[in-house]
Amino acid sequence: MSAESPGLSISFWDRELAAVDAAISTTAGSEIPQLLQRVPLDVFALLQLERPSSWPNLCAFLPTMPSGQVQESWNGAQGRELLRMSVDFVTRMVARYRGGSRKPLVDSDVLDFGCGWGRLLRLMHRYVPEDRIYGVDPWDQSLELCRSCGVRGHLALSDYVPDALPFARSFDMIYAFSVLTHLSRRTTLRVLSTLRRCISRQGWLFVTIRPEEYWHYHDGGEEAAERIAAHRRDGFCFVPHDRVPIDGDVTYGDTTFTLDWLSDAIDGDWIIAGTDYSMGDLLQVVVTLRPF
Ligand SMILES: C[S@@+](CC[C@H](N)C(=O)[O-])C[C@H]1O[C@@H](n2cnc3c(N)ncnc32)[C@H](O)[C@@H]1O
Repeated sequence: MSAESPGLSISFWDRELAAVDAAISTTAGSEIPQLLQRVPLDVFALLQLERPSSWPNLCAFLPTMPSGQVQESWNGAQGRELLRMSVDFVTRMVARYRGGSRKPLVDSDVLDFGCGWGRLLRLMHRYVPEDRIYGVDPWDQSLELCRSCGVRGHLALSDYVPDALPFARSFDMIYAFSVLTHLSRRTTLRVLSTLRRCISRQGWLFVTIRPEEYWHYHDGGEEAAERIAAHRRDGFCFVPHDRVPIDGDVTYGDTTFTLDWLSDAIDGDWIIAGTDYSMGDLLQVVVTLRPF
């Protein structure tokens, strides 16, 4: 048996998993997070990767994973390596929210902005009932992947340069992982002001941004010096992908910006409430924003 085998990884939790498996098909959606709290997030995440046949009801509840190739091409990693990064982000975000929010997470409305294939949405089921979970992405293939994997929650197509979101409501928690790391300056500004209109008064927004060191890894570090110079000079550096422009602007590419640039850009709308850094994912700095 390899160290990565399903038996070795989660069998320590067999008693809890048996209880969850026995109850999950008859548990109301609103009670599911409480049931899933019986196992740690890491175990809940591993279950989605390994889908052990010993827990058929639980596996029927869990979304399937897209192929390793999809994971790799969207997130630059796959399998357990990617899962560790996903768990790390969710753990930090949830800790910040719980540490500062007066509203229990289980009663909060949560939006994944730029949800991709539902990598993080699927982990939020451990905390939030599915009718409080929302995801948007402007790429129909993202939503198609979420649906074909059985990711739960309200999913809808958003605009690339959004004036509004496709849900007429506000959110207590919004996160955008590896989204602002790809947007043009104009799109970044639009996204931040649109999300501001959709956050509740006491809400929390978590975004990831890239540090300037990212440019050493982009295109093998070619032109890193020029890009880092632009990042420092302008506070913002964007290299567009080969895409059709929207209103004269290619919205998607690779992006870095400084905290000072962000602070000026959101002045009067948001305040920067904190930053987090993980040794497991050095090119994604998590920035916590609160409504001003
Ligand atoms: C690198 S993927 C990250 C996906 C997901 N957040 C994750 O961490 O796995 C970037 C995502 O942003 C989406 N996206 C692209 N342009 C966007 C925009 N203008 N607004 C919101 N999302 C956008 C893409 O379709 C894609 O799903």
